[in-house]
Amino acid sequence: MKGIVLAGGSGSRLFPLTRALSKQLLPIYDKPMIFYPLSTLMLAGIRDILIVTTPADGPMYRTLLADGASWGISLTYAEQRQPDGVAQALVIGRDFLAGDSCCLILGDNLIYGDGLSEMMGRAIARPAGATIFAYRVVNPERYGVVTFGRDGRAIDLAEKPRAPRSDWAVIGLYFYDGSACARAARLKPSPRGELEITDLNADYLRDDALAVEKLGRGYAWFDTGTHESLLEAAEFVHTLEKRTGQKIGCLEEIAFRKGLIDAAALRQLAALYSKSDDGRYLERLAEEGPNA
Ligand code: DAU
Repeated sequence: MKGIVLAGGSGSRLFPLTRALSKQLLPIYDKPMIFYPLSTLMLAGIRDILIVTTPADGPMYRTLLADGASWGISLTYAEQRQPDGVAQALVIGRDFLAGDSCCLILGDNLIYGDGLSEMMGRAIARPAGATIFAYRVVNPERYGVVTFGRDGRAIDLAEKPRAPRSDWAVIGLYFYDGSACARAARLKPSPRGELEITDLNADYLRDDALAVEKLGRGYAWFDTGTHESLLEAAEFVHTLEKRTGQKIGCLEEIAFRKGLIDAAALRQLAALYSKSDDGRYLERLAEEGPNA
């Protein structure tokens, strides 16, 4: 399975913050936003990842992330010329995926929860179809919304409905089989002119090939699309990191714990951060070992 992080878009809802800087490079407390979705892909065991950015922002992502080798992963880059919709990531990623199954994650989504790796493992293990995830929110009209029937199975999907039929939002993490690119290529732009990811998911639903997993109370999900949610996400990370002494979305740590890099490589990365707490954190990790 391969991964795609979609990190384009105009970020206009966050102007002036995003006038000169890509939204997914903004800080969420102590790291750039894109570290969080990247860490989610790494936790799912995905190592071959395409980063889709705007043509203008590509160089900054390359400076920040390079080829991913420091974290034992492979990163390649592609451009989305216009923000023509989330599902376009699969059209752009067709050659990269070369028929493989994939996990698409939005570059502004932060997902945290104890059973996340296992849940993603179940999605990866499904031999065909797609898996999406639903999270209960107070403002479903801002998201893709899934409605469940009496038997708990998904019966309807709608993008930002004015009158939502449920309060289950679809989060920006999607697992697809090898048919996703062909399905995405057949989509027509929505009335707002975008290739909607909800239309792609609805295509799977029509074929009875869509699994929807509910994220329960033990999960936190932020999409950092507004100033307020940006702040809330930062406060969440700050609070948890301060309380537990453990980091969220730390690529070096995940790489080490997953055996993608060894203690010597981790120490080298720690040296890069020697002037901040991160350096000491990574040093301690190298000392304690990957299973501590
Ligand atoms: O966050 C989850 C939601 O993401 C889902 O519930 C919705 O179904 C899905 O459509 C999407 O809704 P948003 O309104 O959050 O989409 P937005 O246009 O903000 O784009 C999400 C991210 O993807 C954002 O970081 C920008 C990036 N993006 C978006 C588009 C449309 C691109 O890189 N290229 C694009 O063409």
